[in-house]
Amino acid sequence: MRGGQIMQNTLSPKGLRGKVAFVTGASGALGSDTARALSARGVRLALLGRNTEKLEALARELGGPEKALAIEMNVRNLASVEAAAKNAAEHFGGIDIVVAGAGMVTTELVENYSATGFVDDIDTNLNGVWRTVKATLPYVRESKGHISIVASLASFIHMPEMSAYSASKAGVLALANSLRLELDGSSVTVGTIHPSFFESALGNALTTSPLLNRASGNFGGLFTPIKREDVVAAIAKNIERRSRVAVLPRAFSALALMPGLGQRVIEPYLTHNLRKTAGNLER
Ligand SMILES: NC(=O)c1ccc[n+]([C@@H]2O[C@H](COP(=O)([O-])OP(=O)(O)OC[C@H]3O[C@@H](n4cnc5c(N)ncnc54)[C@H](OP(=O)(O)O)[C@@H]3O)[C@@H](O)[C@H]2O)c1
Repeated sequence: MRGGQIMQNTLSPKGLRGKVAFVTGASGALGSDTARALSARGVRLALLGRNTEKLEALARELGGPEKALAIEMNVRNLASVEAAAKNAAEHFGGIDIVVAGAGMVTTELVENYSATGFVDDIDTNLNGVWRTVKATLPYVRESKGHISIVASLASFIHMPEMSAYSASKAGVLALANSLRLELDGSSVTVGTIHPSFFESALGNALTTSPLLNRASGNFGGLFTPIKREDVVAAIAKNIERRSRVAVLPRAFSALALMPGLGQRVIEPYLTHNLRKTAGNLER
């Protein structure tokens, strides 16, 4: 609660004005565009990441410290996330919205991951979201706010050479489901966003994976990249409606209801693509 700005239990487009969002991954493609979209709705922003140059440039673009504050933070370090949450809450007088968007991907065969390669994805994408939620929850409880976790289609569909990423994104969905039940009665809401591939540094890194290229039909057909602006719009809507889940493209929406079945249904398509191209490529 803060002077003259008691959080109403609504985050409608009108109700978003003046609210405070804690956006991790704000130096990245999706995070920076999400910050811009929220800023356009009158949201004040704590911009979190490791690349302070990019964060500070974005903060200036969005109007400077009263409207947007760059804060250096590493999601792999709890003390760093806790310090950032405290800094953001003290600067703006609270935190109403969390967008947990920091993420990374290391594409590799299960048997070839280095000792750290596998762990890095899990520590950033899963443990990092846990650290973000843990550090911000005291403030979000007070504001009765909303936590929007950027997961992936990989929460439901597990592709080759993406085992660490898929495990982290399936794990983050489980984290969100447990959290939602723990928060029952608190008025805090939790949503997960599950986009397919879109252009970004992370998205572009995926295109270097031979098996993933083959399984996805060179990112064509079902796996044609989606527009990043559609993902941004889905995040904004998830916050405004305090909704539970968003899957993009919508054709995959049923996966959120039947994740196990979804993998069984999609697997023959992936296997067909892999067999069709067997021998064409190294993997
Ligand atoms: N692109 C896709 O195809 C796709 C599809 C589905 C889901 N997603 C998800 O969308 C989210 C945003 O990714 P993007 O595609 O926009 O990629 P991106 O442009 O590469 O952005 C990744 C962001 O994560 C931050 N980050 C990574 N490690 C971090 C750490 N240890 N501490 C703090 N921040 C860290 C980076 O910030 P710094 O480098 O400044 O630390 C950067 O802001 C991710 O969660 C990703 O898994 C992406």
